[in-house]
Amino acid sequence: MSWLLAFDDEMPLARGVAQALGWPLHEVRRHRFPDGETRLRLPPRLPQRVALLRGLQQPNAKLTELLLAAAGARELGVSQLALVSPYLAYMRQDIAFEPGQAVSQRHVGQALAQWFDEVITVDPHLHRVASLDDVLSGRRGIALSAAGLLGDWVARHVRDAILLGPDEEAAQWVDTAARAHGLEHAVCRKQRHGDREVTVALPDLDLRGREVVLIDDVASTGRTLIAAAQGAQARGASAVDVAVTHALFVGDAMAELAAAGVRHVWSTDTVPHASNAISVVALLAGALRAG
Ligand code: R5P
Repeated sequence: MSWLLAFDDEMPLARGVAQALGWPLHEVRRHRFPDGETRLRLPPRLPQRVALLRGLQQPNAKLTELLLAAAGARELGVSQLALVSPYLAYMRQDIAFEPGQAVSQRHVGQALAQWFDEVITVDPHLHRVASLDDVLSGRRGIALSAAGLLGDWVARHVRDAILLGPDEEAAQWVDTAARAHGLEHAVCRKQRHGDREVTVALPDLDLRGREVVLIDDVASTGRTLIAAAQGAQARGASAVDVAVTHALFVGDAMAELAAAGVRHVWSTDTVPHASNAISVVALLAGALRAG
C-alpha cells in the first residue's frame, strides 16, 4: 500500500488524487523559523512506498523542502519515493546561453534524481532535451501532458476555434490540443528581449472574425500571451482566449491580459490559481496507479 504526502497549500489537488487512488493522504507539516529556516514533520511511521506531491511554483524554498522531506522519508524507511510535481520549475534553462551560466535544468534534475526514485510531472518545458529521463540522470521521469485536456475544454467552450501557440516551442502542445477535435492550429515566432519584453510574429493567417485560443505550457509574466493576443487582434480576430497548463501569472499578468482584451483565461490545476478550470487529478492518479 502506498501513501500520498502533501503540504497544506496543495491539499485540494492532493485530496483529489488520493481519493481517485484510494490511498491514505497525510500532511507534511512545516514550521518557518524567523530566520527563514524550515522545520518539517513527516508522519512518524511511513510505508515503504510513498509519493510526495509538491508543485515547484515559487521553487527556491520548495527545493529545500524537498531535500528535507526526501531525506526524512528515507530515514523513516521509505524505499520507493516518488515526487509528483505537477509543475516542475527550472526546466526552461536547458543550455548556457552565455558563458558561465549554470544550466539549471540539468542541475535541478540531478538534485531531484538524488532524492527521488521517480518524478512525475505535467508538461515540463522540454525543448532541446528529448525526455524527462534525460534530465533525471538514471531515474525514471514521467512527463504527462495536459494539452489534450486543454483541447477538449476549448472544443466544448469555443465554437470553431483556431489554436495558436505563441512560439515554436509550443508546437508540441498545440498539435496535441488540436488533434482529437481536428482544430485548426498554428504557431507564432517569438523573440525574447528581456524578462518582460517579447515580440511575437504571427503566421500568415487570415484571422478576421475568428475566435483565437492561445495555447501554451506556462504563463509567467503573461507578456508572451499579451504580445500574441495583440497580434491576433491586429489580424482581425473577433475574440482571444487563453488556455495554459501552468498558471503562474506573476505580478500584474492577469490585469494586463484583461487590459489587452483577452476574453477568458483557463488553466489546469497544476498550480492553484483563480483561472483553474481543468483538472489533472485523473492524469496524475493514472500515472501513480500504473507505477
Ligand atoms: C517559454 O517559451 C514558455 O513556453 C512560455 O511561453 C514563457 O515561459 C512565458 O513567459 P511569460 O509569461 O513571462 O512571457
